[in-house]
Amino acid sequence: MVSDLSPIDTAKFVAAKRALDYVESGMRLGLGTGSTAAWMVRILGEMVRNEGLKVTGVPTSDRTAALATEVGIPIATLAEVKWLDLTIDGADEFDHNLNLIKGGGGALLQEKIVATASDQMVVITDVSKEVDTLGKFPLPIEVVTFGWETTKALMEEALMNVDVMGRTGTLRMNGSDPFLTDEGHYILDFHLHHIAEPRKLALILNQIPGVVENGLFIDICDTVVIGYGDGNVEVRDINAGTIEHERIDVIERDNLFADISE
Ligand code: A5P
Repeated sequence: MVSDLSPIDTAKFVAAKRALDYVESGMRLGLGTGSTAAWMVRILGEMVRNEGLKVTGVPTSDRTAALATEVGIPIATLAEVKWLDLTIDGADEFDHNLNLIKGGGGALLQEKIVATASDQMVVITDVSKEVDTLGKFPLPIEVVTFGWETTKALMEEALMNVDVMGRTGTLRMNGSDPFLTDEGHYILDFHLHHIAEPRKLALILNQIPGVVENGLFIDICDTVVIGYGDGNVEVRDINAGTIEHERIDVIERDNLFADISE
């Protein structure tokens, strides 16, 4: 049966499927978080169950750990595997240098640790996430709960010295309560609109007491796989300087397409 996925889900699915071409048996894999990464985990699970692929997954969030376990991917902690061959994850924005904003799903801390501990990071995305300049998507910043208001004020002050087009931070909420990350921290979303110097901003933010990590991923992503609603993908490799185009078949299988909950 040929898929009747929506164009956006088709784009996410084909990006995820193409990215799994980088996976080889025996690899230790970082498993990203978010709706695009959830497709990747489901397809990978099918490869493990039906094709005998042997991998060990290190999830970047509790919800990815639950999904990986559900679909049959053996998982381990980063402490157990220490280093990873490859991480595949989504992104909220990417620019022409493959610098990213991540953390829309609140998992940026584990995502950055896992991606940084990997030989290679492949980002899977649809074309709507591409920008000339990062900042249209509010920048998530993970902060400790103690004194978060002071941390926020220090951040707004620090932003006076950075080339951005907005300085408002908002505490992320989950209903009427603050959103809590898997590590028990808060997220401040900063509406900066235009981040002219993302590298400088990332360094400045992480010097502020109370900041745990920021959602700017600078020089971490090696390859981006961009999915399109018509089943085409574009693969950009920043190290090789290559751009490839391909068409991916979307064939519906009940166990894969059921109940994508992300
Ligand atoms: C999770 O914290 C994020 O970094 C996600 O990777 C990002 O929000 C992309 O999510 P989607 O694939 O759902 O757009």
